[in-house]
Amino acid sequence: MGRIAYVNGAYVPHGEASVHVEDRGYQFADAVYEVWSVFAGKLADPEGHFVRLERSLSELRIDMPMSRAALTIVLKETLRRNRVSDGILYLQVSRGVAPRDHAFPTEPVAPGVVITAKSVDRAQLEAKAARGVAVITVPENRWGRCDIKTVGLLPNALAKQAAREKGAGEAWFVDELGFVTEGASTNAWIVDADGTLRTRDTNANILRGVTRNTLMGILRDEGLKFEERPFTPDEAKRAKEVFITAATAMVTPVTSVDGHKVGDGAAGPVASRLRRLYIERARAAAI
Ligand code: PDD
Repeated sequence: MGRIAYVNGAYVPHGEASVHVEDRGYQFADAVYEVWSVFAGKLADPEGHFVRLERSLSELRIDMPMSRAALTIVLKETLRRNRVSDGILYLQVSRGVAPRDHAFPTEPVAPGVVITAKSVDRAQLEAKAARGVAVITVPENRWGRCDIKTVGLLPNALAKQAAREKGAGEAWFVDELGFVTEGASTNAWIVDADGTLRTRDTNANILRGVTRNTLMGILRDEGLKFEERPFTPDEAKRAKEVFITAATAMVTPVTSVDGHKVGDGAAGPVASRLRRLYIERARAAAI
């Protein structure tokens, strides 16, 4: 059975799924998205992703395309039709289709909705996490509203490509003051030289990661000290451990920063344990 996508009210074969050439997501990146990790056919961190979706849409003055309950049904039906047990679910909502004009359409148009789902090989992902990934740094060059999860991801795509060309798995943006903001598609964390877990505060121009937030709940429950305080690439190189979080990466250990080994260059015990705890919690709370 082939893959199925949901496009504006219809379930269609993935290879034939398409949107109009004047969809504003296509022409202006006038669209937002969410990515869920999927465990046993269920959405991980549902509440956090729905809250952020509603916030992103409201910041751009795009209507929710349907109620949360209806959207949940469509998301789950897309998983079912793709027979996804463990996987990734992608939702994109654009302002809709209108003749090309930078300002919003004068007549209201319906938001465009696209949903895709794919299976992942959990064992392969665990093996990758156990090896850890390398990170490089690049200058921050994104717009000032990285808190909105828009599909305007060209700087992120270029940063990720730069990482790939250097054999790394992620690129971290570094701001004008020399602090790491976040990764191209992940939030950045260290266990600093004093043993304190640190990640950048969300007053900075970064995405409010849902995985980051769930992990903070775990840290509180485990009595692990953490601070929302920025760090530099040098601090990361000298840190005990480094790791990244995202719906896709979950918690993934980082073994080097700009070619400098972190610790002994292997996936760290704290990050590896937090990955296990995150997966346990996300799996148990999935809907
Ligand atoms: N990216 N920062 C950026 C820039 C991101 O794109 C993402 C997620 C995160 C982590 O957010 P969360 O924990 O809510 O997934 C941080 C998704 C997974 C993506 O673009 O594929």
